[in-house]
Amino acid sequence: MKKNISVIEGDGIGPEVMKQTIKILNLIAKKYGHNFYFKKTIAGSIAIEKFGTPMPKETIDTCLKSDAVLFGCIGDPKYDHNTKGIRPEDGLLELRKKMNLYCNIRPIVIYSEINKSPIKKELLNEVDFVIYRELTGGIYFGKKGRSKNEEEAYDYCIYSKKEIERIGEMAFRAAISRKKKVTLVDKANVLETSRLWREIIIKMALDYPEVNLDFLYIDNAAMQIIMNPKRFDVILTDNMFGDILSDESSVITSSLGLLPSASIGDNKSMFEPIHGSYPQAKGKNIANPLGCILSGSMMLEYFGMDKEKNILEKAVKNSIKKQICTQDIIDKKISSTTEEVGNYIEKYIKNQ
Ligand code: IPM
Ligand code: MN
Repeated sequence: MKKNISVIEGDGIGPEVMKQTIKILNLIAKKYGHNFYFKKTIAGSIAIEKFGTPMPKETIDTCLKSDAVLFGCIGDPKYDHNTKGIRPEDGLLELRKKMNLYCNIRPIVIYSEINKSPIKKELLNEVDFVIYRELTGGIYFGKKGRSKNEEEAYDYCIYSKKEIERIGEMAFRAAISRKKKVTLVDKANVLETSRLWREIIIKMALDYPEVNLDFLYIDNAAMQIIMNPKRFDVILTDNMFGDILSDESSVITSSLGLLPSASIGDNKSMFEPIHGSYPQAKGKNIANPLGCILSGSMMLEYFGMDKEKNILEKAVKNSIKKQICTQDIIDKKISSTTEEVGNYIEKYIKNQ
């Protein structure tokens, strides 16, 4: 297969983890007779410096024309207290919106060999769930502003029936191929948007009789992820709640650096690790490349390349088993560098 893939390395550790990912994807293409054309394009704080915008039009056009986008991470602490001007994150939000990537999929998988989770080991047995986060609506994209005297601010949270239905369908379909359970996480005891979500999802569930639907308020869900994470299969939730729950869930797996994600629209897709730009680690060759590499594997799955995806995941599992890991998930004294982890995975696939 021939695939045009846009690559946005972004800020901080983005270029380092992306380098390992592309190296491995190139090998997979060669081994299985595919042509992957990677086209680098820029976004984030590096784009603000060069072009005055975190998401240049050319980048958006390149991404819209490609079969998929691989995204590293963006963000720079120098914008943290920038309450008025532009921020690198705005670029990511704009790209998600312009590509209409409404369904964000974040799998939460536990590797039993890794032992850096603050949660008791016995609570982690059999944990395997996935978050379906709505990504182009809600409070992230509602009208926002300040009153004239600047003493009041507002962010509207708006959801339409159509927005809820299209992600709902993705979540139900995912549940069918998994443990057949969807948990809708909302705040329907307070928010009107949550009540609309409940109405619509309850109706939709009638079309999926094999799927067991249950409900948790966000505050309770946040607690259950720590106390009883194995109760979950597919978590379906809105943009803001999904953002928060995915960082929380990453902690139970040991490291944010491990987790990939896919953002899917009707015919567009983007794959990115969940982690941020981790500026403290930039250039040190210590960042965990697995979140980005596994995002590459989600891209292979999206392309329908199941053999390729399986071998990549097998290689990643093997690297963990052999303790070829970065220092976020293993004792620093025996840890490997970003590059060494990438090299190990590359070599493993080569030798299969
Ligand atoms: C994420 C990130 C983004 C979000 C930021 C960088 C805008 O935290 O992908 O989870 O809030 O969606
Ligand atoms: Mn987040």
